[in-house]
Amino acid sequence: ARLVVLISGSGTNLQALIDACADPAYGARIVAVGADRDSIAGLDRAEQAGIPTFVLRVKDFAERTDWDAALTGATAAHSPDLVVTAGFMKILGGGFMRRFEGRIINTHPALLPAFPGAHGVRDALAYGVKVTGCTVHLVDEGVDTGPIIAQGVVEVTDADHEDGGEALHERIKAVERGLLVEAVGRLAREGHRVQGRRVLPLTP
Ligand code: GRF
Repeated sequence: ARLVVLISGSGTNLQALIDACADPAYGARIVAVGADRDSIAGLDRAEQAGIPTFVLRVKDFAERTDWDAALTGATAAHSPDLVVTAGFMKILGGGFMRRFEGRIINTHPALLPAFPGAHGVRDALAYGVKVTGCTVHLVDEGVDTGPIIAQGVVEVTDADHEDGGEALHERIKAVERGLLVEAVGRLAREGHRVQGRRVLPLTP
């Protein structure tokens, strides 16, 4: 399967996918990496792996819809079977959803539906949860509201309340990378269909 991965940051999830794709049995190839900003480590990781990249910044466009159209076109140019948003910090617009909905996989560092949005780790910690974790899900038109594919649990310790969630996020990201690699590989090899709130293999 052909993957386009969209990022906004360090790209450790991207790196996990790059490493997984090195195994032909994994069944997927990253054909391009897109970002909404320059000078992020994730773009260096893509370039080191010889993967084509594109950067589209919202502020370079007169309207948000123009940016969404440009992102849709740049992604479609690589004919992806699946799009993976891994730490991509922009909400995908209607044009992108119309083109790719049902084939966009996102990873979020909390146990959805709890703590959606850009600060899932911090919000869970502030709430005083005893366990949190990460969620791999299909993207729908909402924010972190699409059908859930996989989840992983991470315990919260008293020490986590001392460093603003830094250590906790790293522990979550360690689980998240494995969850994302496994979920993307399975969907890439087996195909999938959505039945209500459930994501099922294509082959019954
Ligand atoms: C991940 O935890 C992702 O779930 C969140 O931001 C982090 C991105 O990390 N949205 P990276 O850029 O993949 O290292």
